[in-house]
Amino acid sequence: MTKKTYYISTPIYYPSSNLHIGHTYCTVMADAMARFKRLAGYDVMFLTGTDEHGQKIQKVADEKGMSPQQHVDEIVEGIKELWKTMEISYDDFIRTTEPRHIKRVQNIFMKMYEKGDIYKGEYEGWYCTPCEAFWTETQIEEGKCPDCGRPVEKAKESAYFFKLSKYQDRLIDLFENNPEFLQPDTRRNEMLSFARQGLEDLCISRSSFNWGIPVPIDEKHVIYVWLDALSNYITALGYPDEPEKFDKYWPCDVHLVGKEIVRFHSIIWPAMLMSLDVPLPKKVLGHGWILLEGGKMSKSRGNIVDPVKLIERYGVDALKYFLLREYTFGQDGLYTNEVMLNRMNFDLANDLGNLVSRTVAMIEKYNGGTLPPFKGEGEFDADLKAVALGAADKVEACMDRFSFSQALEEIWIVVRRTNKYIDETMPWVLAKDESTKDRLDTVLHNLAEAIRIISILIYPFMHTTSKEIRKQLGIWYADVAWEDAFRFNMMSGETVKKGDPIFPRLDIEKELEALAALKDEPAEPEAAPTEFKPEITIEDFEKIDLKVGEILECKKHPKADKLLVSQVKIGTDTRQIVSGVAKYYTPEEMKGKKVIVVANLKPISLRGEESKGMILFADNGEKLAFVTTDAENGNSVN
Ligand code: MSP
Repeated sequence: MTKKTYYISTPIYYPSSNLHIGHTYCTVMADAMARFKRLAGYDVMFLTGTDEHGQKIQKVADEKGMSPQQHVDEIVEGIKELWKTMEISYDDFIRTTEPRHIKRVQNIFMKMYEKGDIYKGEYEGWYCTPCEAFWTETQIEEGKCPDCGRPVEKAKESAYFFKLSKYQDRLIDLFENNPEFLQPDTRRNEMLSFARQGLEDLCISRSSFNWGIPVPIDEKHVIYVWLDALSNYITALGYPDEPEKFDKYWPCDVHLVGKEIVRFHSIIWPAMLMSLDVPLPKKVLGHGWILLEGGKMSKSRGNIVDPVKLIERYGVDALKYFLLREYTFGQDGLYTNEVMLNRMNFDLANDLGNLVSRTVAMIEKYNGGTLPPFKGEGEFDADLKAVALGAADKVEACMDRFSFSQALEEIWIVVRRTNKYIDETMPWVLAKDESTKDRLDTVLHNLAEAIRIISILIYPFMHTTSKEIRKQLGIWYADVAWEDAFRFNMMSGETVKKGDPIFPRLDIEKELEALAALKDEPAEPEAAPTEFKPEITIEDFEKIDLKVGEILECKKHPKADKLLVSQVKIGTDTRQIVSGVAKYYTPEEMKGKKVIVVANLKPISLRGEESKGMILFADNGEKLAFVTTDAENGNSVN
């Protein structure tokens, strides 16, 4: 019998810089779901990758003095390394710069074009000439380019458009009649009202930069980065030229995406698929954001949380557990070091870690390390068994709703119930009396059975910890099988072996200090690009007579607050020069400075004071600084 398939995707990440903990959140959820489905017997396709084209990437590469390809290759290497460290079990990693993707995106473009859904028109927007970038009305900031801050102007370029408007009614119908397609409901309502307001055709090509996939019928244009990126979900399956894999996994079971890119996935993407006559994905799920106390995480604010540093200190499973347990799917949540450390300490070190180490230690101490068989039911046993055996169904129900946090809570109900069982049965008391040896054996047996079930339940979320627990229980050789979470009394005679604590207890105060010290220094604010005036010739330059002079005297201008009036000696000549620097320097600070002067500037009168020449200052946009020199007074500067 062929297995049922399950296809899950994450967004493909921009390789503009390294990923932070917010990015890992979605991938960790997708990984847990993929592992859960594999355990449930599905043939899983878990896809992730990188979105490597577009103007932003080209710009970052330019700034680094690299080709865009070199730049993305370097960052993608780091992203793959991160997923390896985090033991992410993806089945395919698609890069949009790969030939398999490029050729298929061009095929997709042509199919939509041949269908009559793509036409050539004119794109009007706000253009920043130095950045060669088009911006929309909402992107510009007070009439300035959001990237460089320089003024933008209205401009037009010819471009290709996708007839998104044609699919408006079908999209409205989709949101109205298929509520499962887009969840949570708040996002679906947003998209429904967005579609009802009217969808305009979408500009899907650009000619103001070239880091993209060429439009096959017009090589001056590159395909809009979102059309390119969204296609990854089918190009990775071989669409349209390798139907076998495509037919096996498509339609996708779920696209997991962050809330801000829901619109692309629930409007543009389905419309593209409608145009291609390809069935729609079954579900798009929009998750919330992990925020910091100051708001969003961002590289330029220097407030990102680096997952690698957390993993080095606490391990992959502790981080995964925290991400999946702490945040409620669909909602934003706050990250603080304290919340994370508390989760790790209470849930992992105290509840789970202690349960395993106490149980294994007791089996070693009271039964020489051999797991005793079941010897008849006693008080508390039925309740423990019922809780442990009932958990797998509850976890499945939570996973159906993508409620990772609740699924873990269900598992921790078993963990806490099992800890309570130790307190109730008091094995150390039973061990004191030979007559209660059988009862002691059963208690130890039941504890090990409950922990075995826990090891199965946590497997999708923390597979390394699951394996470590199974090693300590002496069942390392057995494959983790979900159906074994519905069975009790499976073990007898195994040799248990105490290992290191699975989660060491943390000194929270000390860790908080250590994490504060690890914090990234705020990144340097991005320097505004240095501007240069138009070229001049050497002859032009030679017209300017630059000389070294010394300010002998200086006073405030009698009529203008901003001006200072200096007597400047240049060689044998002493003259008066007026400078607009009163905001920055006092007359006393000016006096005695050896400066560079434009000596042949035509004299003018400034508010009644003659000015013959100009003293040079360096200007950083905020403040002026002296351009001083050690050279002799009267020297020429050339
Ligand atoms: N390249 C596009 C996606 C194209 S999919 C066809 C993109 N890339 S991204 O790198 O900017 O973001 C990828 C995902 O990371 C988004 O889903 C986004 O919501 C998610 N996150 C980025 N910061 C996040 C948090 N702080 N918290 C949770 N998720 C966040 O968009």
